[in-house]
Amino acid sequence: MFKIIMVPTDGSEFAARAEDIAISMASKYNARIVGVHVIDEKLIYPYEVLEDEGKEILKNLNSKAKKEGIIPDEILVFGDPAKDLITISKRMNADIVVVGTHGKKGLEKLLIGSVAENLIKSLDVPVLLVK
Ligand SMILES: Nc1ncnc2c1ncn2[C@@H]1O[C@H](COP(=O)(O)OP(=O)(O)OP(=O)(O)O)[C@@H](O)[C@H]1O
Ligand SMILES: [Mg+2]
Repeated sequence: MFKIIMVPTDGSEFAARAEDIAISMASKYNARIVGVHVIDEKLIYPYEVLEDEGKEILKNLNSKAKKEGIIPDEILVFGDPAKDLITISKRMNADIVVVGTHGKKGLEKLLIGSVAENLIKSLDVPVLLVK
């Protein structure tokens, strides 16, 4: 049913739980995982620092998945997280997208974060929100 599971991750605790669920789903469905991190163009930090952080986030996902015998595809891009994740999900033909309800900002008084909200609004495939 799910052949390509995309998991956008910003390295937050919420995203870590989304990664874990994506990994167990991939083992169950024998699916591919596409891990994606978008380096947020709005952040005012040296690019190298953000790039290193992004690589580290994807490396971490890679090691967790490897323990379950899965080698994820990794995509690291620079741009607008919501917009780019939508484009990548379509381009990769994701069957489902697994994300955290919140991310780095984690304002829990909001029901969900803006990236999660944009994905639900714009994607035609199922979006699994992980608390
Ligand atoms: N830059 C990113 N790259 C990849 N995935 C991301 C990125 N930012 C958020 N996500 C995904 O979206 C989920 C929800 O994060 P979101 O950014 O919507 O919430 P937030 O950071 O709490 O709030 P906001 O960013 O709207 O201030 C994260 O758990 C993660 O799965
Ligand atoms: Mg965020």
